[in-house]
Amino acid sequence: MDRNTAKHRSGPVTPAVHQPFTDPSTWYEAVYSSAENDINKVPWARSADYSLLTHWLSEQHQTFANRRALVVGCGLGDHAEMFARLGLQVTAFDIAPRAIDWCRQRFPTSAVAYQVADLFQLPEAWQSAFDLVFDAFTIQSLPPDLHDRAIAAIADTVTKAGTLLIMCHGRESGEPTDGPPWALAHTELDLFLHSGLQEVRFQDQERAGVRRFLVEYRKPQEALESSDSTADDRDARRIRASHR
Ligand SMILES: C[S@@+](CC[C@H](N)C(=O)[O-])C[C@H]1O[C@@H](n2cnc3c(N)ncnc32)[C@H](O)[C@@H]1O
Repeated sequence: MDRNTAKHRSGPVTPAVHQPFTDPSTWYEAVYSSAENDINKVPWARSADYSLLTHWLSEQHQTFANRRALVVGCGLGDHAEMFARLGLQVTAFDIAPRAIDWCRQRFPTSAVAYQVADLFQLPEAWQSAFDLVFDAFTIQSLPPDLHDRAIAAIADTVTKAGTLLIMCHGRESGEPTDGPPWALAHTELDLFLHSGLQEVRFQDQERAGVRRFLVEYRKPQEALESSDSTADDRDARRIRASHR
């Protein structure tokens, strides 16, 4: 069995996943380290589903070549590699050093700049620096009291006229969530609107009993006059896609 792909989803995940969640900087590192190079022991890697992203990419008419992309909480690097294959100049970071080592080991000739970094202490050079910013499942991997700071930090990295793509587990507002992961309600994601982004598209997919959202935002060329008006506009633009 190739332990570096998630094709064989058998066997237990690493027991570190069942340890009490304390600090994100140590909990995720413990999961990656104790997985002993076996992707199938990392729960989010073994259950990865790329259909929402590949569908979004298939609909893009923009050229990505030489544009700058940032992949937040990149984990084992599969999304970052997808973007690099499209010609984007990709920087991908994660707080867990073992995850970054593992990315470099899996993709030794990769063009992606893999880096250990904390979302809450990003390099200044990354502010408003990226044409495409992608996050899959990082916000929800943090306790809810950190979601507003995580959202603001991600929003700050998008350049004017840039695109932000957020993928997360979804829930109705008011529906309880007990993480990790702490699934996100669409209303929570509205914090991106208050960080100056406009929602362009909202997709809500349910597959094999798992609800996922893919939300696309755009940072306007000019500063928004009123973030409240974009929240109202959002409902008009909402697209419900099933892709079951
Ligand atoms: C559920 S995993 C998702 C990984 C990857 N995006 C994927 O889809 O497979 C969440 C990731 O966020 C990372 N993470 C958590 N807190 C972080 C932080 N403050 N800064 C950067 N990465 C963080 C974790 O180490 C972990 O790799």
